[in-house]
Amino acid sequence: MKRIGILTSGGDAPGMNACIRAAVRTALAHDLAIVGIRRGYTGLIAGDTVPLDRKAIRNTIHLGGTILETSRNKDFYTREGRLRAAAAIERMGLDGVILIGGEGTFHGATLLAADTDTTALVGVPGSIDNDVYGTDYCIGFDTAANCAVQAIDRIRDTARSHERLFFIEVMGRTAGFLALESGIAGGAEELVIPEEEVSIDRISDRIREGFIVGKKSAIVVVAEGEAPGISFRIAREVGERLAFDSRVVVLGHLQRGGPPTMRDRVLGSLLGVAAIEALLEGRSGCMVGERGGDLTCTPLEDTWQKKKPLDEDLVRIFSFLSE
Ligand code: F6P
Repeated sequence: MKRIGILTSGGDAPGMNACIRAAVRTALAHDLAIVGIRRGYTGLIAGDTVPLDRKAIRNTIHLGGTILETSRNKDFYTREGRLRAAAAIERMGLDGVILIGGEGTFHGATLLAADTDTTALVGVPGSIDNDVYGTDYCIGFDTAANCAVQAIDRIRDTARSHERLFFIEVMGRTAGFLALESGIAGGAEELVIPEEEVSIDRISDRIREGFIVGKKSAIVVVAEGEAPGISFRIAREVGERLAFDSRVVVLGHLQRGGPPTMRDRVLGSLLGVAAIEALLEGRSGCMVGERGGDLTCTPLEDTWQKKKPLDEDLVRIFSFLSE
């Protein structure tokens, strides 16, 4: 192992820069040359690189987004696209590639592995949705969840003052991690998550019961699911059953930006080092992660083919803490 590349792909997540920085510093400490691949798989196919030395990663640990930029490239789902990427990897002379991203990134990497048997591929989980199997937390989740909690706190002030019902939509395409944890931390009254069927009756009944026992306001945290804006429909349908003054707030991409929290900086740093060490140990086709406090390596195909379950204890406590 002499020369490696590193890229970020899919949705950016705060803490990705801490991970890049850690990987670069660890690579250099082991006399490995490291280059950055710009704009995720788009740059991988084009062979678009930037030099990564100590200067390039200096003063980046506190920055959100990704200094390497990112993309969601569909060409990777075609054999032709992957063959172009494999040829570019050969031209760039890379013995290994570190891919920081989420499920889509690892799906692409699993497909690519079949076309590049000489280059080691190691994934690092970075996704504010936290929906990657094989790690308790993904880089970016903690920052996004804290952003959502701050928003809920602010909305609660105005909700209480006006005796209103608020629907706060957070991200989470196929998983409710953000909604569940920010809902617990923000003291939400109800949750809508992709893991469960939306029940307008249940939401309406629980809000009504809360007002009967003396609540003057309520907050429903809604995971956006496949279609951002879903909370407008839910608010309208609940509004047809309850005569409460209600409003909708969609947090959207606000949750993806901003300086990473301490936890995301530490996790990014830990996994950046772990990715280089995995390559040095001769590993390939796996994703480094952290489970129960231990560093782990999960086969890339498991990371997107297996569904990461919500923490059952958190689901259980939400239902009675929100009463
Ligand atoms: O990165 C995950 C995510 O933030 C999802 O929660 C969200 O549905 C999606 O990305 C939005 O993607 P885009 O930035 O491409 O609109």
